[in-house]
Amino acid sequence: MPEPGSVVVIGGTSGLGLEVARHYAKQGREVVLSGRDQGRAEAAAADVGGTARGIALDLAEPAELADRLAGVDGVGHLVLAAIERDENKVHSFDLDGATRLATLKLVGYAETIHQLAPRMDPGGSVVLFGGRAKDRPYPGSTMVSTVNGGVTGLVHSLAVELAPIRCNAIHPGIVGDSPYWSAKGEPALEPVRQRTPSRRLVTMEDIVGAVVFLLENRAVNGENLHVDGGWLLL
Ligand SMILES: NC(=O)c1ccc[n+]([C@@H]2O[C@H](COP(=O)([O-])OP(=O)(O)OC[C@H]3O[C@@H](n4cnc5c(N)ncnc54)[C@H](OP(=O)(O)O)[C@@H]3O)[C@@H](O)[C@H]2O)c1
Repeated sequence: MPEPGSVVVIGGTSGLGLEVARHYAKQGREVVLSGRDQGRAEAAAADVGGTARGIALDLAEPAELADRLAGVDGVGHLVLAAIERDENKVHSFDLDGATRLATLKLVGYAETIHQLAPRMDPGGSVVLFGGRAKDRPYPGSTMVSTVNGGVTGLVHSLAVELAPIRCNAIHPGIVGDSPYWSAKGEPALEPVRQRTPSRRLVTMEDIVGAVVFLLENRAVNGENLHVDGGWLLL
């Protein structure tokens, strides 16, 4: 039997969110995806196909989210994948970038859930994107490591507060074929491959499979799932 409701992907115009949106559109699910720009969101929705539609919102402006999300109803699954990468180091700290990212991932994710939870199917679920930078930083990841660590706590609280709606997080390792990391090329990726016991980089397809598992398995709740090929073991 098909699951009820649409799949909403916040940060669905690019990378991992776009691949999740593509997966569900291919399955014939109603998909709503977001980016910051309406035109770009509509273009991504057209690319994803099916009945997908695009909306514009900025998670770093949480007071605007109620209006931006007003047209979204009947939600089955909600995926929060958005990020604005703030390459920041504490010795040259950029306050604006740091504030935007902290607001986007922590307050913006939570406010989106606050707005949409009353419009969600009780059997539905939420997946938040964190990331392994919370445990293994890279140069410039100070704020990325911070907010991805924050996602861990957010999930624990939300799994309790949203009940019976489930809430989980995925923490990918470095996803080699994602736009952000593939643009850095082999000099950045090969050391990660060598340090990963599976001797391969995580792919976007691996991440989509894990997100689908977290969204759809009715027994999985309050989990922070690491999908990294065992990267932290070496
Ligand atoms: N890629 C990896 O290897 C990796 C590893 C670990 C964790 N992650 C996590 O996985 C998630 C997806 O990463 P990705 O690499 O696929 O990202 P990405 O390709 O950079 O895509 C980011 C998405 O977020 C949207 N976005 C950016 N700023 C926003 C804002 N202020 N408000 C609302 N939406 C905004 C972008 O939309 P527009 O540009 O159209 O506005 C885009 O859809 C992130 O949460 C990231 O932390 C990724």
